Amino acid sequence: MLTHSKGGLHPGRPGVYNRRMELTIRRHSPEIEADFFRLHSRENDHDWCFCAPWHLDDWCDFEKRSARENRVVRERVHAAGGHDGYILYADGEPAAWAQVFERDSLPLVARTFGLKPDPGAWALGCFFVPPRHRGKGLNRKMLDLILADLKQRGAERVEAYPRRGESLDVLDLWRGAEGMFQKAGFRVVREAERWAVMVRELN
Ligand SMILES: CC(C)(COP(=O)(O)OP(=O)(O)OC[C@H]1O[C@@H](n2cnc3c(N)ncnc32)[C@H](O)[C@@H]1OP(=O)(O)O)[C@@H](O)C(=O)NCCC(=O)NCCS
Repeated sequence: MLTHSKGGLHPGRPGVYNRRMELTIRRHSPEIEADFFRLHSRENDHDWCFCAPWHLDDWCDFEKRSARENRVVRERVHAAGGHDGYILYADGEPAAWAQVFERDSLPLVARTFGLKPDPGAWALGCFFVPPRHRGKGLNRKMLDLILADLKQRGAERVEAYPRRGESLDVLDLWRGAEGMFQKAGFRVVREAERWAVMVRELN
């Protein structure tokens, strides 16, 4: 299923898309696995994690894992039919990725943030916008499109897990920026010094 959105999102606001660009979001699927790897590529300075972490049992030594190990996890996930997210296309070209899945399907999320089981909750596990597209509001727009699609899929609520802390680097924002979720109507339901769990009801 496709969701379409015309560009010109915030004309006049600097740093935000202000030209006619067609943004299209697609649920991840076998047909667009190649686009997943186009995004998670050396060209985008992003060929190490392959959105593997939430598929593991724990965070033990994650930093020491090789790109090859993470890619093997991703290939296994795809081979098992795990298409856990969305790809955003800008004028037909893959322009951003979001890892999105039913939260309890990957138990490391609940373990990491101390959450009780919730079959109605979906998780926003990770975002990636390539460097050349950053700072233009793409992540924000992608979030809007994902929320609309999750509602159509019958999701009851969606959770986000933004990092907190002083002077966060752009790489620290892989779970999204807290301010972005606030503006999108998420509220904090659990928090710690270095993260928050935020929820938005969809019904
Ligand atoms: C974080 C990231 C997804 C943001 O994408 P983007 O399209 O540039 O973001 P947007 O322009 O839509 O802005 C969305 C929010 O992020 C915030 N943001 C974006 N870049 C930021 C930065 N460098 N520092 C602080 N906040 C930032 C924006 O302020 C905005 O929040 P707001 O609505 O409160 O203003 C992107 O920078 C990225 O992919 N970073 C690398 C993350 C990564 O490594 N992911 C893969 C991990 S495996």
